[in-house]
Amino acid sequence: MKKKVVSVILAMTMVASMAMGCGSGSDTTTSDNSTTTTTNDAAASTEASDAADATADAANGDLADKKVGVCIYQFADNFMTLYRTDLEGYLKDMGYSVTIMDGKNDQNTQTEQINTFLQQGVDVLVINPVQTTSAQTITDMVVEAGIPLVYINREPDASEEQRWADNNWDVTYVGCDARQSGTYQGEMIADLGLDTVDMNGKIDYIMIEGDPENVDAQYRTEYSIKALEDAGLEVNCLDDQVGMWDQATAQQLVANSLSQNGNDIEVVFCNNDAMALGALQAIESAGRTVGEDIYLVGVDALSEALEDVLAGTMTGTVFNDHFSQSHSAADAAINYLSGAGNEHYIGCDYVKVTKDNAQEILDMVK
Ligand code: GAL
Repeated sequence: MKKKVVSVILAMTMVASMAMGCGSGSDTTTSDNSTTTTTNDAAASTEASDAADATADAANGDLADKKVGVCIYQFADNFMTLYRTDLEGYLKDMGYSVTIMDGKNDQNTQTEQINTFLQQGVDVLVINPVQTTSAQTITDMVVEAGIPLVYINREPDASEEQRWADNNWDVTYVGCDARQSGTYQGEMIADLGLDTVDMNGKIDYIMIEGDPENVDAQYRTEYSIKALEDAGLEVNCLDDQVGMWDQATAQQLVANSLSQNGNDIEVVFCNNDAMALGALQAIESAGRTVGEDIYLVGVDALSEALEDVLAGTMTGTVFNDHFSQSHSAADAAINYLSGAGNEHYIGCDYVKVTKDNAQEILDMVK
């Protein structure tokens, strides 16, 4: 019991010491890395038809004896659990042998898992890195072993992606541009109008961030606020804390912030839905009402969050399309196996979700 209390205090101290402080989110923002390599249209369409052929070959069993190794940064992550389940199902349905490892949010653990995959012999690796700053080391290990590599969800920085193109390596990234999700969050609040949200001429908000090492957290923090400013609204950050994508951590942080800032808080921005769900618990415990005296947005479109959007207990979320991302990642892996190859960046779009389209998205994800 005592041990548990100590570890909770330790965890809370760690989180507190990682607190970002208002306005510091943009300081951590990395350079623009939305696109790296493009091919001309003809090449792109050839790649697309090669990809279709590869998928057909796979379905016919020509490639289906190949082994796919998958490394996920942490199984205990709501969004990555949806992603992982889709990825596994999609590849297994095509007959591939798939092994998925849990990095347990520890880069050393994940690096050992990658080494084991390379020693045991896999034909392609799909990696959701624990730390994107380790991407260079990971790429070097995997390329050295002659194995193609598909990074997912956590985007390595622009200079790392440039190396893949410069060296013509079989390495790609599949994911959405996190700036778009942040922009959508800010727009959903701006669209409510200053008269609805505001009590004093400016938007007083708190920000609950995911892992600050991660570009999704950096960009969502920066671009949600930029969208408010771009809409001509004045903003005031009351608190900016790191919730590490985690519901329970966010609940605690928002409870603290609500007790410190009282009714001044008008908007709670959370970098993902798991944290927004925690924020909602804290908001309700503090006797505040979303949609009346406070507004709350997340990202991912978890089904629980969609139910909240429909019920009005969350203002909005942004659909992080795990179906299209996992299928694109699997298709990219297959393209390497078939020799069709890939561009070095494979993107996708987020979808803004309010009460108007939440049911449609819920029907899709359920
Ligand atoms: C984000 C997602 C978060 C979390 C994170 C992990 O794209 O919105 O919920 O899963 O990836 O890196």
